[in-house]
Formats: sequence, C-alpha cells, structure tokens
Amino acid sequence: MDHFNYHDGALHAEEVPLSRIAAEVGTPVYVYSAATLTRHFGLFRQALDWTGHLVCFAVKANSNLAVLKLMGDMGAGMDVVSGGEYARARAAGVPGERIVFSGIGKTLVEMRQAIEGGIRQFNIESEPEMRALSELAVSMGVEVPVAIRVNPDVDAKTHEKIATGKSENKFGIPISRAHEVYAEAAGLPGLRVVGVDVHIGSQLTDLEPYRLAYRKVAELTRALRAEGHSITRLDLGGGLGIPYRRDNNAPPLPLEYGQVIRDTVGDLGCEIEIEPGRNIVGNAGVLLTSVIYLKEGEGRDFLIVDAAMNDLLRPSMYGAHHDIVPVTEPALGADVRAFDVVGPVCESGDTFQKGTQLPALASGDLVAFRSAGAYGAVMASEYNSRPLVPEILVSGDQFAVIRARPTFEEMLARDTIPEWL
Ligand code: LLP
Repeated sequence: MDHFNYHDGALHAEEVPLSRIAAEVGTPVYVYSAATLTRHFGLFRQALDWTGHLVCFAVKANSNLAVLKLMGDMGAGMDVVSGGEYARARAAGVPGERIVFSGIGKTLVEMRQAIEGGIRQFNIESEPEMRALSELAVSMGVEVPVAIRVNPDVDAKTHEKIATGKSENKFGIPISRAHEVYAEAAGLPGLRVVGVDVHIGSQLTDLEPYRLAYRKVAELTRALRAEGHSITRLDLGGGLGIPYRRDNNAPPLPLEYGQVIRDTVGDLGCEIEIEPGRNIVGNAGVLLTSVIYLKEGEGRDFLIVDAAMNDLLRPSMYGAHHDIVPVTEPALGADVRAFDVVGPVCESGDTFQKGTQLPALASGDLVAFRSAGAYGAVMASEYNSRPLVPEILVSGDQFAVIRARPTFEEMLARDTIPEWL
C-alpha cells in the first residue's frame, strides 16, 4: 500500500496534487511520501516485535538526508557501504551505535572514519579485510564489534545482477570455511566477534531462499557456539521484494518474512538485525515527468518524456518495469494507444517501456513512474549534462524540496580548466 492515489481525477502524493509540485519545481522530479515510508518501516518493526531487533535501513536504496532523518527519528538503524553513506547517516542524526558497515571493499580510511565516529558493527567480508581492521583497531587502541558475512550458496531466484548469495558471487566468505575464519577472528586483537551476517540478494519475491539461507545460519551459529564463540547478533540482510506491477501477484509481506526468521533462527536468543531498503522506500516514491513530444514512428509511436535513463537507470540496466500512469486520471473506458516511452538521451537504451497502453496524451501532460523511490535518485547521473534530478518529500498537505535541481552554473562550477590550457 502506498499514498499515491487519484483524488478528484488528479494523482496525489498524500494530499498534494502532483501537478502542483510539477508547476512549482518543474520536471523531472522524484516525489516521496513520508506516510508511506513511516508505514513500511513500521511493518518491519512489527514483523520482529517478538524479539530484540534493529531494522537497519539500507542507505544505498535512498540516501537523501531528509529520508534518512525521517527513518532515524523513528529509531531505525542504518546499513552503510561507504564513507559517504556513513557520513550521510551521521549527518541525518543517526548515532554510530545504530550503524552497521557492510561492503566488500572497505578502505582503511573508511574504517577509521567509522571507528572514530562510532559504529555498531563491521560486517566483515574477507580475511584480508579482517586482518586490516584488526591492525587498525590495535593502532587506535580500541576493540571493534564484528560480524562475519557468510555466503550460504543459496539461489535467491532474482535478477542475476542483484543476486549475492551464490558461491560464484563476490560476497562473504564461503560458509564451508566459516569455522576457520571465525577461529582466526577470535584470535585477532582489536576485534570482538559478536555475530553472523548474511545477505542473499535483492528483489526476492519468494521466501524459500530466505528459509534455506537462515537455516544454514542457524546451524552455523549453533556450531560456532559449541566451539566457544559468543554469537549474540544475527544480521540477516535485506532484499524483500516489492510489487512493481499493480496488477500482479504481490511478493510476501514483511510479517510473513518475520515469521520465516522466527521459524529458522528464533530459538537462538540472538538480537536480530535486518537491512531492508527497497521494501521501505521503493513504493514510497514516484518519478514525475512531462511529455515533451509524441512522435509517430514507423509502426510505433514514441512518447518522449523529460525523464531519461540518467534519472532512472533501472529499466535500461536491469530491464526493470515501472508502471507508468497519467497524472490526470483517464476517463473510464477512455481509448488507449500503444506507446514506446522513451527519454531524450541519445541512446536506444534510453527506453522505459515498449508498447505500453496509455490514454491519449499531449505535449505538456504529466505522467508518473511508480515504485521509483528505491535505487532511483541514488543511481542518477548527469549523463548528457542533464542536471541531477531533484527530490521532494510530501507529508500530508505539505511538501518540501529535499534536493534542489542544480543550475547549469552549479553543474559547471564543479569542473576546473587548468590555467596552462
Ligand atoms: N544489505 C546489503 C548488504 C545489500 O547489499 C543490499 C542491497 C541491501 C541490504 C538492501 O537490499 P534491498 O532490501 O534494498 O533489496 N540497484 C539494484 C539493487 C541493488 C541492491 C544491492 N544490495 C536495483 O535497482 O534493483
């Protein structure tokens, strides 16, 4: 459920007509609903209310400071994967004790930054990283909490580019070698081993892969405890999928996911951490865009909109589908026509959808790409020197610009022409 609905024939974000935002801020623009974010975060909390837990929002899904502050103020933790994400989480007011640091290539500089700023735990992804962190911690005279990310060799049954739990993927240490790695970690100074970490992929629409992976984690936890390790936390990653099409079978709900966690690892008495990103913010955002031209091609008609692949990369990168809806509600039974919906960027890959049935639209009409709150703005670029797409947060009947559209001057000011040129 989200808060983007038609009222009196006009698509609204909560109580704000999207046409008002377009008139005041221009297009393309991302629009987020605070009520939807709040609701989705609450569902995860509820799903784990049977145990001690921390819902760590995956900052990579949407890292706008206002979004992070909204989540942090509700008590969310943060899952970060870079020094930049760590800085964002802190700037949004999230204390270090609620931040977990994931990622396979943490540099010494990033690890130092997090130790100095405060950190709940590092999720270790390799032995070299573990040794480097140990040396750093010793040099800083501290002991840091760590979990070790295991790769359970489970097929998440999702798009290959976002599956992370198979042995051929670059993530984690093979679960078969976990015993020796935990043994080494226990002997390394500066590290305090507190948990096991796993994340098998993103946009999972089936709970079975989770069940398989979490069973393996439970088995490993018991074995590690028998070997004398004190495992008190399990970080079970993120990845629960969202419905990208309004008309098809919805993926499982957070509550059902929480039940799988309870069934598989619930008896271990561990504090549970999860790292959802997309499920919290995906359907809390739309990308609002205007039609520039209707172009009749040979055998197909193109709807050229002012958003492009640089603003929303997912369709061209993963072949992803985002429902496209007109901002003015079409009359019941209105004629529809097939369009290829494309952006202005000079690549054929800048195509959002082919053969989409849409009602009659004209230049200047507004349309919205739904389910664009996650991995939308964060993956945007300035390709074709299109200024970075702005972001708006709506709450009730108010809205605010939470990232302004840069002017050409601001965009150009980042470059420097050397004086010898
Ligand atoms: N934790 C870790 C360690 C991750 O690598 C990820 C996502 C998450 C949590 C959050 O997963 P989520 O709940 O959002 O599925 N750009 C791609 C998605 C990449 C996901 C990468 N890792 C897309 O647009 O579909």
